[in-house]
Amino acid sequence: MKRLGIIGGSGLDQMDDLHIVEERAVETPYGRPSSSLLFGEIANREAVFLPRHGKNHSIPPHRINYRANICALQKAGVTDILAFAAVGGISTTSLPGTIVVPDQLIDYTWGRAHTFFDGDSVDNPAIGNGVRHIDFTAPFCPRLREAVIQAAREGNIEIGSRATYAVTQGPRLETAAEIDRLEKDGADVVGMTVMPEAALAREMDIAYVCIALVVNEAAGRGPGGITMQAISECLSAIRADAMQILHHFR
Ligand code: HPA
Repeated sequence: MKRLGIIGGSGLDQMDDLHIVEERAVETPYGRPSSSLLFGEIANREAVFLPRHGKNHSIPPHRINYRANICALQKAGVTDILAFAAVGGISTTSLPGTIVVPDQLIDYTWGRAHTFFDGDSVDNPAIGNGVRHIDFTAPFCPRLREAVIQAAREGNIEIGSRATYAVTQGPRLETAAEIDRLEKDGADVVGMTVMPEAALAREMDIAYVCIALVVNEAAGRGPGGITMQAISECLSAIRADAMQILHHFR
C-alpha cells in the first residue's frame, strides 16, 4: 500500500491544510529528524508531514539531518515523498512566482552525510548490509512527476514540467559568476536542499519528487541583489498554488 510523505521547505514549515491527528517524536539510528512527524489528512488523503528546516525554520540546509529525516519517514511506512523546495530561477523558463517539477539535478554540496551505505555498523534492517550503488540516472520518480504535473493541470496551476536543479551548499546565496557557471552546466534552478535528500530516498527505495517553488531570480539575473523580504513575499504569493497541487494530487 502507498503512503504519502510530504517534506515542507522554506515557507512551508507549517501546512495549514493538513488536518493533524497525531504528532510522533521519532528516534532513528542516525539521530533525530528535523521535527516530530505529523500524521494527518490533506484533501481526504492520509499523509505524514515533516518540515525539513524544523518547525520554526531553525535548521540551515547544511545542518539538516537528511538521513534521520528519510529514515524516520521510512519507519513511518512512507513509500512516496513529495518534497517542496524554494529555489532561485536561472533560466528564463523558471521565473519567480512559478512552480517547476525538476527531472534532473547536479549536486554541488559537500561534507553532508549523504548515504546510508557508509560502511559503518549502524543496524538498519531497511537497507541491509554491505554497499549498494543506486541507479540515479533519473533522480526523481517519473510516476510521481507525472502525478504532480497532472494535479497541477487539474488545479489550473501552470507548472514547468522539466528543469535541472543545481544543489548548492549554502547557507549563503551564490555569486553572479557561480550562477553563470551553473547555467553553463545546464541548470535551470538553484536550491540547497534536494541533495542528499533525493539520493537517500532512492537508497531506501522510496519514490521521491521535488516540487520547486521559484521565489527569486538567481544572483546576477535580476536588477539588484536578492533580499529575504522579496523571497518571503514571493513565497506567500505561490503558497496557494502549491497547496492547490497537493489538493489535486492522486
Ligand atoms: N539560491 C540557492 N537557494 C535558493 C535560492 C537561490 O537563489 N532561492 C531560494 N533558495
